[in-house]
Amino acid sequence: MKQATDVFNEWVHRGKDEGMERGHAPAVKEMLDAALNKVSSNGTAFEFADLGCGNGWVVRMVAAHAGCASADGFDGAQNMIAKAKNIDSKNGYHIAMFPQTKPPKKYDLVHSMEFIYYLREPKVMLQSIHDDWLSNGGWAVIGIDHYAENEESLSWPEALDVHMSTFSEKQWIAMWHEVGFEDVRSWRAGQQSGKSGTLAIIGKKNQK
Ligand SMILES: C[S@@+](CC[C@H](N)C(=O)[O-])C[C@H]1O[C@@H](n2cnc3c(N)ncnc32)[C@H](O)[C@@H]1O
Repeated sequence: MKQATDVFNEWVHRGKDEGMERGHAPAVKEMLDAALNKVSSNGTAFEFADLGCGNGWVVRMVAAHAGCASADGFDGAQNMIAKAKNIDSKNGYHIAMFPQTKPPKKYDLVHSMEFIYYLREPKVMLQSIHDDWLSNGGWAVIGIDHYAENEESLSWPEALDVHMSTFSEKQWIAMWHEVGFEDVRSWRAGQQSGKSGTLAIIGKKNQK
């Protein structure tokens, strides 16, 4: 099987990162609406990170929010990060392999779209997001298109020749509770007729 980061490195040469951006945008917009409402409700500025950021389009979108103090993107595909830096010299873009990369600082909002299931042990990543990446009282929002109920997505590992960890909606949500998230809520984002939509999950790290 190929490494996911090698596959997505190649996609940049063919412009497929921009197709992904267009395809993911409706679900991400819903996810960000929910999450930005949480982190900007008290009027204090927030720090944002996007894990598996691809070409960094979500970093640039959130950086434009009036309450955003800083925005950083992290991805293991060098070409994705090179493209992000080429487009935008203001925000931070970092080559990072997960789950082993530890954050340079804590973030108030961690976002991730279509990344976490490429990992062999997504729960380890979720635990790290909760323990290492988030500040106390911070929020995470994650979008997943490959899940057991989305039958169309079950052929993707073979089609791409890439490992994907397959869980049901119930299993994903249980994982969030197991690693310590509170106020966990899930919904199907970006749903069109006949399609399953993105399994979107949002949750909060305890204030302590
Ligand atoms: C389906 S793309 C999504 C990109 C972006 N979030 C978007 O919506 O356009 C998945 C991204 O996760 C990155 N990725 C996959 N496995 C990774 C790993 N183990 N460490 C770091 N990045 C990884 C890939 O390089 C790729 O850019």
